[in-house]
Amino acid sequence: MRKPIIAGNWKMYKTRDEALQFIYYVNEAVPSKDLVDSVICAPFTVLRCLVKRQGENLRIGAQNMHYADEGAYTGEISAPMLRDLGVEYVIIGHSERRAMFNETNETVNKKLHQAFKYELTPILCVGEDLHNRENNETECVIKEQLHLNLSGLSSEQVSQLVIAYEPIWAIGTGRTATPEIANETCAFIRKTIGEMFSEEVSQKVRIQYGGSVKVNNIEELLAQEHIDGALIGGASLNAQDFVTMVKAALNKVK
Ligand code: 13P
Repeated sequence: MRKPIIAGNWKMYKTRDEALQFIYYVNEAVPSKDLVDSVICAPFTVLRCLVKRQGENLRIGAQNMHYADEGAYTGEISAPMLRDLGVEYVIIGHSERRAMFNETNETVNKKLHQAFKYELTPILCVGEDLHNRENNETECVIKEQLHLNLSGLSSEQVSQLVIAYEPIWAIGTGRTATPEIANETCAFIRKTIGEMFSEEVSQKVRIQYGGSVKVNNIEELLAQEHIDGALIGGASLNAQDFVTMVKAALNKVK
């Protein structure tokens, strides 16, 4: 039985006051962490203030980090710095970073190793673009991402990993993958993990869907067998909506 995990990715939104307003509401309203993991991945500038105020059922994550322990990397943030703040999750390889900030499969791989070294739980993002989808290349692209991104990780590490399947054509476009398409691709990810590691690992790894997830479509997405949660951008900025979407995951544990 995989525990559902609902994560908000705030991207480059929210000042400190806005983050505080959000967390005071959400702390009291999210369900028990024994039933569902609720995570907010926030900008670096508000991580400390969120960690200090997180209730027992909410966990805090970053949206990126560097793969080195320290060094002359102007503007970057390291895993030990995140660990030091009390952050527990980190998104690695989001498509926006791959497309706009030179993130490659190789740097994603280094960052995953680094996250495990500092006991941060990575949320690894994979997914195809519209061109890939229309040319039947989805499975090939995702297989390549998984092979390169997970290279050298142990079975135990991969069992603890969260993978977010985020088709790029569905991010911020209002165009959600149908539950069937999302489930089919998440099933393919699980099968590939099974081939690369073991059946046991593939049954343990949690796979989220991300891309225009909203209050009105999350239930049917989460009803799918291979979808263990959601990584939510725009709709996670609203505290009430975030709580509603976390509560939708309770249906999976009934
Ligand atoms: P939206 O939910 O805004 O489409 O963003 C999805 C996403 O990129 C989450 O990481």
